Amino acid sequence: MNLITVKTYEELSRKAGKLIASQVLLKPNCVLGLATGSSPIGTYKYLIEECKNGDLDFSKVTTVNLDEYIGLDGTNDQSYRYFMNTNLFEHINVPMENTNVPNGCAEDMQKECARYDALIEDLGGIDLQLLGIGLDGHIGFNEPCEFFVKGTNVVELDPSTIEANARFFASADEVPKSAITMGMQAIMQAKNVLLIANGPAKREIVEKAFKGPITPLVPASILQLHPSLTVIYSEN
Ligand code: F6R
Repeated sequence: MNLITVKTYEELSRKAGKLIASQVLLKPNCVLGLATGSSPIGTYKYLIEECKNGDLDFSKVTTVNLDEYIGLDGTNDQSYRYFMNTNLFEHINVPMENTNVPNGCAEDMQKECARYDALIEDLGGIDLQLLGIGLDGHIGFNEPCEFFVKGTNVVELDPSTIEANARFFASADEVPKSAITMGMQAIMQAKNVLLIANGPAKREIVEKAFKGPITPLVPASILQLHPSLTVIYSEN
């Protein structure tokens, strides 16, 4: 594990952006696993700049996102599909048909979970998975639990996650109560994992996840077993 501490969010975003850019340069047709939330916004801005400057080409890249709220379709501005379109995909030259986000409005969610796992397998797995971390240690929406969940699954969101995500909605009542998330297998089988966390609020959970015991009660702690993990934490 490579645990890097930097001072500012800008530094974190630049470092994370550079690691993703290196992956794309190394393997132009790579599969990038992507995350939403506030943490990756600066990283995505860096990638957009690089692409606009002509230094990075996403035309052969495929993306698979971690998760989506149940009941929100891609036109809803709180959906993770909408977030990805507006914060990244619409500003780089990745073909939209190469971008994948689980469908939170699928009629049969169990089928959707199986479809998503099969898709990742057919792509040959993920080359680089970008992750944030929840205050309760979740990655994707894999919440603290008695066991690590293997495949893509539907989860009830933890009350602390609903509260944390209420900042994006008019009120906590409007935050969907469940989500579909990639499971631990696809994340752990990614060739490289890059987790970013910023600010004093994330300090304690970063310590717990990467210096404490490996336990499904802190889902991110499983990453300690990953052979190629980089964690970038910024103090501010
Ligand atoms: C989002 C995701 C979540 C977030 C986590 C941290 O796709 O998978 O695990 O990464 O909730 O969110 P922020 O970055 O908003 O603190």
